[in-house]
Amino acid sequence: MDNKNYQDHFFFKAKTLGYRSRSAFKLIELNDKFKFLKNGLNILDVGSYPGGWCQVIQKKNNKGKTLGIDLKKTDQIKGIKLIEGDFLDTSSKKKISEYFVTNIDLILSDMASNTTGNKSLDTMRTNQLCLDILDFSNDKLSKNGVVVSKFFMGEEFNEIKLKAKKNFKKINFFKPQSSRGESRESYIHCCGLST
Ligand SMILES: C[S@@+](CC[C@H](N)C(=O)[O-])C[C@H]1O[C@@H](n2cnc3c(N)ncnc32)[C@H](O)[C@@H]1O
Repeated sequence: MDNKNYQDHFFFKAKTLGYRSRSAFKLIELNDKFKFLKNGLNILDVGSYPGGWCQVIQKKNNKGKTLGIDLKKTDQIKGIKLIEGDFLDTSSKKKISEYFVTNIDLILSDMASNTTGNKSLDTMRTNQLCLDILDFSNDKLSKNGVVVSKFFMGEEFNEIKLKAKKNFKKINFFKPQSSRGESRESYIHCCGLST
């Protein structure tokens, strides 16, 4: 299958199964590989719009609490709290902490900065978001919690790897098949806080 047909395949599969985005399949593949979605967890989904990842989480976490946040308004999904806001803002982080009260078991980030057309600038901005997720996780994740974050292969890769190695007991990298072959997109999976 060439790249275009491959993309169409995931687009139509998402439509058929009622997912709001083809991104849903990336989370399904990540979870098949690392098995982090369980029922009864406190789950944060950062960069939730249009809601594909939240739809996947909803099927697995009906006894837990899930919060999705995005710059764009994500339409309602039953059982999931959705807020519109910039994850980088202190006020958003305060809202997240207030919602969960206790620590968060699973922090997922599919955040990508708006594309400018300048590939290295886009890569750098998205990777800064990933670094911010790793810092936030160090403060708010439960001791045996899991973080999964998008990043783009680029100059910041070593910084991401070093920070993750310092903060977590175990880290892995994974590029789902449903991620465009030519894209620099990849995901880091981290588990267990080091301290
Ligand atoms: C690839 S999309 C996420 C797709 C989503 N996971 C799904 O399954 O439907 C990336 C999202 O990251 C969001 N984003 C980028 N920067 C953000 C920020 N600072 N705070 C919150 N969301 C952000 C964008 O608005 C965009 O909707």
